[in-house]
Amino acid sequence: MADARLYVGQNVPRVDGVAKVTGAAKYLDDLHLPDMLHGATVRSEVARGRLTGLAVDPWLAEHGVTVVTAEDVPENVVALIEDDQPVLVREHIRHRYEPVALVACERKEDLQRALAGVRQTVTPEAPVLSLDDALRAESPVHGPDNIQKRYRIVKGDVDRARQEPGLVFTEGTYHVHHQEHLYIEPQGVIAWWDASGVHVLGSIQCPYYVHKALKRALKVTDTEAHVTQTVTGGGFGGKEEYPSMIALHAALLAKKSGRPVKVVYGRGEDMEATTRRHPARVKITSGARSDGTLAFLDIDVLMDGGAYVTLTPVVLSRGTLHATGPYRCPDVRVVARALATNTPPNGAFRGFGAPQTIWAIERHMDRLADQLGIEREALRRHNLFVEGDVTATGQTLKVSVGGMQCLDAAVKASDYYAKRAQYASEGVQRAADGRRVRRGIGLSTFFHGAGFTGSGERRLKGRVQVDLEPGGSLRVRSASTDIGQGTETVFAQLAAQAARVPFARVAVEQPCTTHVPDSGPTVASRTVMVVGSIVELAARDVAERVRADVARHHAVAPERVTHGDDSFTGPFGEESFAVASDRLLGREPRVVSLRQFEPPADVFWDDDTYTGEAYPAYSWGCDIAAVEVDVDTLETRVTDFWAAQDVGKAIHPVLCAGQVEGGSLQAVGWAVSEALVWQDGAIKNARMTNYIIPTSLDAPRFHTTLIEVPYPGGPFGAKGVGELPMDGGAPAVASAVEQATGLALDALPLLPEDLLRAQRNGAPQ
Ligand code: MOS
Repeated sequence: MADARLYVGQNVPRVDGVAKVTGAAKYLDDLHLPDMLHGATVRSEVARGRLTGLAVDPWLAEHGVTVVTAEDVPENVVALIEDDQPVLVREHIRHRYEPVALVACERKEDLQRALAGVRQTVTPEAPVLSLDDALRAESPVHGPDNIQKRYRIVKGDVDRARQEPGLVFTEGTYHVHHQEHLYIEPQGVIAWWDASGVHVLGSIQCPYYVHKALKRALKVTDTEAHVTQTVTGGGFGGKEEYPSMIALHAALLAKKSGRPVKVVYGRGEDMEATTRRHPARVKITSGARSDGTLAFLDIDVLMDGGAYVTLTPVVLSRGTLHATGPYRCPDVRVVARALATNTPPNGAFRGFGAPQTIWAIERHMDRLADQLGIEREALRRHNLFVEGDVTATGQTLKVSVGGMQCLDAAVKASDYYAKRAQYASEGVQRAADGRRVRRGIGLSTFFHGAGFTGSGERRLKGRVQVDLEPGGSLRVRSASTDIGQGTETVFAQLAAQAARVPFARVAVEQPCTTHVPDSGPTVASRTVMVVGSIVELAARDVAERVRADVARHHAVAPERVTHGDDSFTGPFGEESFAVASDRLLGREPRVVSLRQFEPPADVFWDDDTYTGEAYPAYSWGCDIAAVEVDVDTLETRVTDFWAAQDVGKAIHPVLCAGQVEGGSLQAVGWAVSEALVWQDGAIKNARMTNYIIPTSLDAPRFHTTLIEVPYPGGPFGAKGVGELPMDGGAPAVASAVEQATGLALDALPLLPEDLLRAQRNGAPQ
């Protein structure tokens, strides 16, 4: 069959594009329901303490303000992994921005007055605010030892490997800091109740997570909770778990007031109260032979989980599994712990723990290369995983191992060796705008597991339904949300190609838990690879049903009916897909396929020993950054960024490259400009004017190469791309900064003041 109508691999127009550029798309705060109230949150005023009283000004009752406290919550828990976080504080305050009470009023302008009218009586306690405090665990925030989760990976025998004569030992400790998501649209929801139960509309990444949380805390049934995602302005992991909290708040206010309630956070509140990237400290000891061959890696990972467990176990897991980087090593030990502190819970953020540990191993590889006198690129090339290698968990990498292609492509595209030699020998340069700068170039190699870890996908049982509709149209029903990354477009491409119908005839249903099956959450670089593969299967099923019906109708054997582009041919001649499907729908009005994800049978994973196939497939990458560091101000400007990333198959190359560039820019921001300033558990710079993310003017020139080493288990060979681009940017930039300045920084960020401090202390930092 010739494929004249190919959508996969083509840059079709995004299905949400016109509505977004014309302003027709309605984001949550654009929506108004009749009689709707505006809600807001009273938050704790200390990082740790006991709430002993709440007093409410008479002004609130006089003005008809609805007030909700912990007493109003049927079961005071935000259901997630450990169910340790309350919807509203009853007694124990565990971070500075905990929700203590809720208010709702008619006029948005009255919210500030209403908030000020709820007064807390609090007995403060000494907070745990750093990993060092948390390690001492003098007064633990969580459990007896302050540990939220721990993992251990053991391969071979590190202690025995250390005995090998002639090994070069390298030791380092590497730090990363918090990071804000800074999605363009802050968190927001609208909730109301009616005869069918509780309804939530919102800027939500995972509608079924919210559904689960509503059922638990509000004690409603499966069919009494209805969660719908509205057009969403970015998530990056930040709208994975937090929407459950804000949805519960709005639903409680709506229940008590009997009116629809909208809760939308301002930027400052969003930055303060919602989750962010986990800070981490990673200690690595390695042994290598003089030719650069890694003999052992001994790694200790500490992450700061914040005040509640939320998604920390999964973030720590992914960090642990990526801690060795994409490098072959016979003897490995990774010990990882997440500790509780009295800071707001840290949560999912693009990369999900991997950027933290990849920062560490990449900085370590630079140290090791320098110590051995081996070029940094050459050391990576020497140890990089290739097909047939075995990972730290004992997984043999059988297919789709594109790391080397990425390294080759990026090195070539950037002319890395020529630039590295030139920057090493040149002195201070004049930048185009006259600033005095030193230049540098650096690289990183990395991989990222796609899909849920280990047995996760087997447990999740992600489902997708495709419906046949009049006129030969298809409707894709999945819970995977489009949060800007292009899910709707890519799913329409996959369904159109699989069923061989025109792209314009595929509709993607708005994710609403009442109308779509649970496909699992929109996380973990799983949307295209895992959920997309079910979209493909279900769309194919529906087309097959139509083909079978054509055969039945014309009384020919099914194999004599050929499914071509939007048509069927056989001894009866040619018939269009639309005519055939309308005839089928006339007889059988409901033609649907509901498919469930089946992981490959040979995927083995043991959660107890952390051994086996950690991920069904890995995406691979090499990032190379070129920087100019101003010798007078020590500001770093990333001028060029070469990313070569193996995604299996780029279903939509422009969107795919957009993921790579957007993720890389987030990594650049994390490295050179973003920094949260804390004081006594409070954030001092919760504004876009003083928490500095890169704008388009700060963006480097991107040179992106998409490498396609197909993964047979993904749709048309596709793997994941959502998180991978966040992994390698920061260490590549740090390596480049090091060449420009001679300063070997092992802690993020690399702000001018950090470079100055390192300069004064004498490098390395
Ligand atoms: Mo996520 S960081 O949305 O897996």
